[in-house]
Amino acid sequence: MDLLSIDSLSDSQIATILDRSQHFFAANRAGRSTDALSGRILFNLFYENSTRTLMSFATAAHRLGASVVALPVDQSSVNKGETLGDTAHTLNAMRPDVLVIRHHDNGAADAVAAIMEAPVINAGDGTNEHPTQALLDAASLQHKLGKLGGVNIAICGDIRHSRVARSNAKLLPRLGAEVRLAGPPELMPDGAPAMTVDEAITGADVVMMLRVQRERLDSEFGDAPGEYLELYGLTAKRLANAAPGALVMHPGPINRGDEIDGAIADDAERSLITLQVEMGVATRMACLELMVGPTN
Ligand code: NCD
Repeated sequence: MDLLSIDSLSDSQIATILDRSQHFFAANRAGRSTDALSGRILFNLFYENSTRTLMSFATAAHRLGASVVALPVDQSSVNKGETLGDTAHTLNAMRPDVLVIRHHDNGAADAVAAIMEAPVINAGDGTNEHPTQALLDAASLQHKLGKLGGVNIAICGDIRHSRVARSNAKLLPRLGAEVRLAGPPELMPDGAPAMTVDEAITGADVVMMLRVQRERLDSEFGDAPGEYLELYGLTAKRLANAAPGALVMHPGPINRGDEIDGAIADDAERSLITLQVEMGVATRMACLELMVGPTN
């Protein structure tokens, strides 16, 4: 099976991934690894920058006993004009057991999956989807709250460019959560219902902030120091309107003083940002086990 979109997962596959995420989270904390994927090879093919996703897929593979080969795209034949399709045919001929791809074009993971015989995982395609991020976010919330049913989650910021928001808006309601999307009108998808950040945060149990993806914008937006934070960012004043003890999430990377006040990101009581990173390894282990484990 491929993991290209939340839509491609059944309810029972989602339940298995979330359940196994908690198992691997505890095992990783105890320093236990397994050899379930011993002898298997994972290819990492990242055309866009990454710290968390790239490193956690590699760590997840190693914790399961698999080996990782990463293509340094900057030094690859991409710079000699090779197309994505030809690169996929080339990598397919090397017979990896699973390929993880991040790419700047929507649909790139689907295109590569149509060529590869091995399972393909979408680690973010343009502004489309980032399914393993949504899965690790759900697993983090389950870890912290026990369940997602009836939880109000405000996802705020650059919704227009966020594959994280798109995957979460599909996944979290399937688990019983209520999701509100909000941001500056310029950074909302066309036709999305208008809700201000303040409205979305009011009474929310969880506030998930998103970075302004300036690399995907053709013009400046809220670039003056402190301007974006003041108008749309997560400040102590805004967070005070959320439900008492509301939790704060962010997929990272954070831009301190832009979409989030640094002190809130560092607040160990409320911020799940580090938990999300730790759970990221566990959830990716769960995905790899399901897709390339011994039962496949
Ligand atoms: C996000 C991404 O690349 O989509 N980061 C991540 O994977 N944790 C969000 C972002 O870049 O702002």
